[in-house]
Amino acid sequence: MQISPELRRRFAEANRVLVLTGAGVSAESGVPTFRGGGQTSIWKGLPFDVISSATMVERDLPAVWEWFDYRRNVLASLTPNAAHQEIARWQDRFAEFTLVTQNVDGLHQKAGSRDVVELHGNIWRARCTRCRFSHDISTEGKRPDACLECGNFLRPDVVLFGEMLPLGAFEFAAERAARCELCLVIGTSGLVYPAAGIPEIAKAADAYVCEVNPEPTPLSDLCDEVITGKAGEVLPLFRS
Ligand code: OAD
Repeated sequence: MQISPELRRRFAEANRVLVLTGAGVSAESGVPTFRGGGQTSIWKGLPFDVISSATMVERDLPAVWEWFDYRRNVLASLTPNAAHQEIARWQDRFAEFTLVTQNVDGLHQKAGSRDVVELHGNIWRARCTRCRFSHDISTEGKRPDACLECGNFLRPDVVLFGEMLPLGAFEFAAERAARCELCLVIGTSGLVYPAAGIPEIAKAADAYVCEVNPEPTPLSDLCDEVITGKAGEVLPLFRS
């Protein structure tokens, strides 16, 4: 497990860098990934893509909240790991640094990352199903039962299966990908689009694309370099 001299040089010289992260970047903090290691996340017998779906919000919103309350509870005691911390250090190092994450856990922000592009929302926010008013539920002992603006139902402010990405988030990420010089793809299975399209955009625009993952992914082949290893062990190597 090492960083090539070519990658080291590009990292040292780049002006515009884009990092795309997935669940694997939080794995060493104790957050279970959705896929990988032969496992798929299941909640009370329901696969995560069923419980975390737009259909389920319509059919059984309390069950969706039960699953998200459980996840928030698990996350509350977890802390950023060496990978989150390293990525947070990078933001002031390049003229243009863009962190795009598929994670909803808020650990990048906890590590100090600013302006994180959240493609799939954030578990620490709830949003009104009618007026879309956003509620911070990170500090509440108990989340509000109804919208504080209009009294309608609240739902987790995350992207569920069958739903569109938040307006503008992907477009912004795609624009940054199209002009980055170096794209690091860290801890994502590369199976969920449009997020997985971001490294493809970077590659098409001639960026050097590097993957960090203990397992190969469908994105591995397009990468200029694949570092097989855990994010928390690989990323600190960029410093040495
Ligand atoms: P996945 O669970 O699909 O993939 C996690 C990836 O992380 C796998 O490729 C693992 O090999 C890798 N991995 C595991 N441990 C790692 C470590 N220590 N360091 C680096 N990599 C590691 O997660 P995502 O790709 O993020 O969407 O999944 C994409 C989306 O699918 C999620 O955002 C979620 C889910 O549906 C929504 O919730 C909308």
